[in-house]
Amino acid sequence: MLAPKWLENSVIYEIYPQSFYDTNGDGIGDLQGIIAKLDYVKSLGCDVLWLNPCFESPFQDGGYDISDFYKVAPRYGTNEDLWELFDKAHKKGMKVVLDLVAGHTSIEHPFFKESCKSTPNEYSNYYVWSDDWILRNPDPRYRYINGYAPRNGNYLTNFFYCQPALNYGFSEPEYPWEKRPEHPDCLKVREMMLDVMKFYLNHGCDGFRVDMASSLIKGKNNYPDIKKLWEYYRNEVKKINPDAVLISEWSNPPQAIGAGFDVDFMIHIGRTGYVRTFRNELKRIPGTYLATDTPSFFDKNSSGNSKNLNDDILVNLSETKGKGYIAIPTGNHDMGRIRQYRDFDDMKNVFAYIFTVPGVPVIYYGDEIGMDYVYGLESKEGGYWRTGARTPMQWSNSRNGGFSSGNEADLYLPIDKLNLAENNVETQEKDENSLLNFTRKLIEIRKSNSALGNLGEYHEVFASDSECPHLFLRSSDTQKVLCGFNPSLRNVVKELPNNFELRSDFKELLVNNAELVITKDKITVTMKPNSFFIIEV
Ligand code: NOJ
Repeated sequence: MLAPKWLENSVIYEIYPQSFYDTNGDGIGDLQGIIAKLDYVKSLGCDVLWLNPCFESPFQDGGYDISDFYKVAPRYGTNEDLWELFDKAHKKGMKVVLDLVAGHTSIEHPFFKESCKSTPNEYSNYYVWSDDWILRNPDPRYRYINGYAPRNGNYLTNFFYCQPALNYGFSEPEYPWEKRPEHPDCLKVREMMLDVMKFYLNHGCDGFRVDMASSLIKGKNNYPDIKKLWEYYRNEVKKINPDAVLISEWSNPPQAIGAGFDVDFMIHIGRTGYVRTFRNELKRIPGTYLATDTPSFFDKNSSGNSKNLNDDILVNLSETKGKGYIAIPTGNHDMGRIRQYRDFDDMKNVFAYIFTVPGVPVIYYGDEIGMDYVYGLESKEGGYWRTGARTPMQWSNSRNGGFSSGNEADLYLPIDKLNLAENNVETQEKDENSLLNFTRKLIEIRKSNSALGNLGEYHEVFASDSECPHLFLRSSDTQKVLCGFNPSLRNVVKELPNNFELRSDFKELLVNNAELVITKDKITVTMKPNSFFIIEV
């Protein structure tokens, strides 16, 4: 395996810093808050923190619009707090991964301000500016912003208007302002971002989750160039810390890992679309650009359509084997909450699935207590419909959900009071059947059974277009574990294939309303509505 050894056994916990834990009473989460909650994260069995961007920013896109790559945003604390977080996490055997917003800066970044000037200067080509074309779109393949600056041209944006794309070059330049990636101006940008990585690695950061990793170099056929870029970065990063991790927002694990990443998310874009149906929110949140008609296998009225999901996992695993990992998150800051259309029983089924498939699992903060999507919130810092999945972590059923001692009116976003009594850490700690304790148990089972480990093999046993259950086998050199899922409201009985080998002393690791029935000539799985099992066989 090319990826760092420690990934074999790790579980990532994503923290949206502004919403995690506020220690200074200003209503916004901070780095000291993350330090204060390290033991909590560790108690889940998670050993890697991924922090969304915590750098100086005008926060027009939640911090994905950085105005100083080298400075922690004062609302989160200081650089020293970040070094302290690295240090304290390391002492507890944990890693800290930062978000590298490599593709763009904020319009407030001094480099961009310089590049806006009509007089040519060192930063003029740090961004992509068309020549002239002020009254027209210079290139319909991309989004350019017209009329922003004194400079006689338009700038290319990556996401919102306030996120001008850094100029890493174009794979097939068509216009005079488009440069090949090896153009000296593009190489300057490449090195500028490498310096940012070096700075944090040298202070003890354990790696990066790279925003929009596939699109730094523009162009339809950019893969060879983008691969070269990430191979270069990988090499440089590993020189500083061979154990550092590179995680991509790419959603195409074979491509991402082929380009040098250690881990790639299977989320809502690209070829990994079936995984998104855990949440199934996408067809239901008005205004989302991610609308889909694909019903989820995990719905109560599941049609039993596990085939696409299974095939998606299989193909991504086979194409990345030995090189890197897929990562299936419970959610993230860009999508709805898994709890949104699911009760706790459904969620347990989905979690049992997420924590038994291979790869590096990722928990989005609060999913482990079933935090819900909050409707009706005004967009906060460019969140738009994503805002409802970014509300403060609910630590207890007390004032401000235990998130902050500040004034309610100052909270970054309101607490989800509707669900606070049930969805909070303190209450769920005391209930052995809570989702929180269930998640802990699942992670413990995953970590103590080699077949279920991040690297364990995955074999389809039963996956269909129209029939529950879904069954797969995980295996290592020393162990085999059969996993089964029936999210539907129907009782299902399924005979295992004739050649299925079962130890007479098979062991139930975690079973909910299901059993293996062995008769003389066959083994059947019988599963009640909304059931699952994890059985060592
Ligand atoms: C992906 C990030 O996850 C998202 O939150 C952000 O808005 C865009 N990239 C732009 O940086």
